[in-house]
Formats: sequence, structure tokens, C-alpha cells
Amino acid sequence: MSDSNTPKKYFHLAYISHPSESLTKKSLVELLVKAQQYNIQREISGILIIRDKSIFQLIEGDEVEVRDLYNKIEKDPRHQHPVTVYEGISSMRSIPFLGMGLTLDQSDDHLADEHAFYFNREQALKFTALVTGKVKDLLLEYLDHD
Ligand SMILES: Cc1cc2nc3c(=O)[nH]c(=O)nc-3n(C[C@H](O)[C@H](O)[C@H](O)COP(=O)(O)O)c2cc1C
Repeated sequence: MSDSNTPKKYFHLAYISHPSESLTKKSLVELLVKAQQYNIQREISGILIIRDKSIFQLIEGDEVEVRDLYNKIEKDPRHQHPVTVYEGISSMRSIPFLGMGLTLDQSDDHLADEHAFYFNREQALKFTALVTGKVKDLLLEYLDHD
């Protein structure tokens, strides 16, 4: 049984996939506007990065909530062939806010002025400071940084 003295544990799940034709920039932003509400209500944090027709998403929170959300995401026809690349438990969140951050190409950095959940590459790189191991490597790879 958990009580206020039990340290909180966060379940982290990361997957990669490929966007479908239907996943345009506009539809992606609309999808992410809805996702903020869902994720905040369920205390889920995370980041979605799209680079060179490849998607990387990290989702963190209560394990049941994260798995429930991933079950929906996995079946979503707006992307293809999702493959889980990381599952782990930690006492900390790597993404320090609830909702779902989005980062696209450098040419889309201006979206950071238009959407509260959009992070340009420089901002997104700061999150990697809080992450270790395989997820850090993947984040750096998707942010095109070595
Ligand atoms: C790449 C990708 C990432 C997604 N990320 C989230 C997310 O973080 N939160 C969310 O609520 N929905 C997200 N969705 C949308 C879900 O797949 C799904 O449409 C949403 O949870 C509503 O599901 P429902 O209609 O079964 O309730 C994402 C979809 C895609 C294609």
C-alpha cells in the first residue's frame, strides 16, 4: 500500500515509429492540443520528437496510466510500426512538466512562439540533462546532436 511516506515511482516508456501520410504538421498540432488535457489529468509527462520521418516519444507517469495511454497510441493509424525501445522505473521524471512536449525540425522552431507545448531544439536539448542511459542517447540522436 502506498502512503505519503512512500517515495513516488515514475514509469518511463519510450517507443519509435513512423508517421503515416495523414499525420500532417497541422493534424499533429491538433492531436497534441488534445493530448495536453489527457496527459495533465493523468499526471503524464513526456516529449514527442519527429525527425526525418521517424517518431520518438517518451511517456512518463504512473505505470497503469502510461500503459493505458500507450495501448491507445500503439493502435493509432496516424503512425506505423511502433516499437518499444525503453521501459524503466525511476524516482524522477525526466521531462519536468505534465502534458506532452513536441519538437520537430529546426525549420519549425518558430512554433515555440505559437504553442505552449512546443519546444525548439535548443529548449528540448535541456531536457537531456535530466535523463541518463539509453533514453538520453535516443533523445540526443533525435535532436540531431552529438
Ligand atoms: C504519435 C502519436 C502520439 C500520441 N501521443 C498522445 C499523448 O501523449 N496523449 C494522448 O492523449 N494522446 C496521444 N495520441 C493520440 C492517441 O493515439 C489517441 O488518439 C487518444 O488517446 C484518444 O484515444 P481514444 O479516442 O481511444 O480515447 C498520440 C497519437 C499519435 C499518433
